Amino acid sequence: MALAGKRVLLIVSGGIAAYKVLELIRRLRERGASVRAVLTKGGAQFVTPLSLSALSEDKVYTDLFSLTDESEMGHIQLSRDADLVVVAPATADILARMAAGMADDLATTVLLATDKPVLAAPAMNVRMWEHPATQDNLDRLRRRGVRMVGPNAGPMACNEYGFGRMAEPEEILAAISRHFGRPAGPLTGRRALVTSGPTHEPIDPVRYIANHSSGKQGHAIAAALAALGAETVLVTGPTDEADPLDVHTVAVTTAVEMMEACRAALPVDIAVCAAAVADWRVASRADEKIKKGDGGTPTLTLVENPDILASLSAGPGRPALVVGFAAETEQVVAHARAKRERKGCDWILANDVSPETGTFGGDANRVHLIRADGHEAWPEMSKAEVGQRLASAIARSFQGAGDGAA
Ligand code: PMT
Repeated sequence: MALAGKRVLLIVSGGIAAYKVLELIRRLRERGASVRAVLTKGGAQFVTPLSLSALSEDKVYTDLFSLTDESEMGHIQLSRDADLVVVAPATADILARMAAGMADDLATTVLLATDKPVLAAPAMNVRMWEHPATQDNLDRLRRRGVRMVGPNAGPMACNEYGFGRMAEPEEILAAISRHFGRPAGPLTGRRALVTSGPTHEPIDPVRYIANHSSGKQGHAIAAALAALGAETVLVTGPTDEADPLDVHTVAVTTAVEMMEACRAALPVDIAVCAAAVADWRVASRADEKIKKGDGGTPTLTLVENPDILASLSAGPGRPALVVGFAAETEQVVAHARAKRERKGCDWILANDVSPETGTFGGDANRVHLIRADGHEAWPEMSKAEVGQRLASAIARSFQGAGDGAA
């Protein structure tokens, strides 16, 4: 277990997402890590020292000038006595103070004094996240080696929508596991990007356009690539699938957000687009629920969504290997061949998604792997096996040990 015996110093700053760290502590401890918490004044507005202490089964540190704390465990000792420092939630304020090298409370003093790696999980309002000041601070911190997990896009406590939601405990846990080492394999040293699931394109605040993708196939591919050692980013639309361990999962809702998250994940060596991205979105989403009887039956005007696969295939920064999927209901191989050429990807996996096949949402899949130089039909197998077979074919193509035949 990568986390057994690891010591995590968790700095909890003042954001609404602070409640999520309780779950993070529980999961870290389940995996054998110990957690010691530092709580800022702001953080204490959202989560109590008692709940942190009960879950971590350790003292919670809050005060830079506490005589008892300093005599038991000085702030320098606190900053060194860990294998990893995690800041979650990392508000715009604490990120700014970290970037400026301030040391005006226990949390920032520990962060300035530490010689240990730091992982931050940003959480803030979307406008604060997008503000050039925050982006500059993030750049400075990244250049100094601070690693980030998230944020995700989604609805926010302030009734706005966009990037700024703290990564889920499972995602932070996966980032921590990755830090302590993912399994070595033939794809060690390679970076992979996988898209998965459907996208939801809002019509109004309560309705959206979607499809039946469950995310099972895309998630299985991401897990299989990570199991072969690839540093894997999974960009997923809304699904009930658990985030695969050792994979950095970014949750999005719409095609435009998926595109943005994929661009943010570049550069990668491998891209696999398994998501069922909506081809169109509603041109202008209604701010209020469209009422029945408001001037008869509404007409929705659709505009085309960005094509993520085509855009990744066209570059700039094109991954060395781009793999697409083709979801077809007739002439599966012929349509998929044409799609591979049209979208400019290297390989395409064709699957029949006619309702009677159960491909959408089911646990099994039957695919054809199509490359420039031919195609092969794989027998029906579980989606996990499709993921493993694809990951092995990808590994072989990078090792130059074969012709990409799976
Ligand atoms: O999620 P599951 O329930 O496990 O089901 C798996 C699956 C059927 C969704 C999966 O195996 C699959 O076929 N995924 C691709 C679905 C799809 O949208 O196919 P398409 O033929 O419409 O698109 C072709 C390719 O372009 C795909 O790689 C797709 O991800 C990509 N695309 C499409 C539109 C768009 N705007 N951007 C894209 O990147």
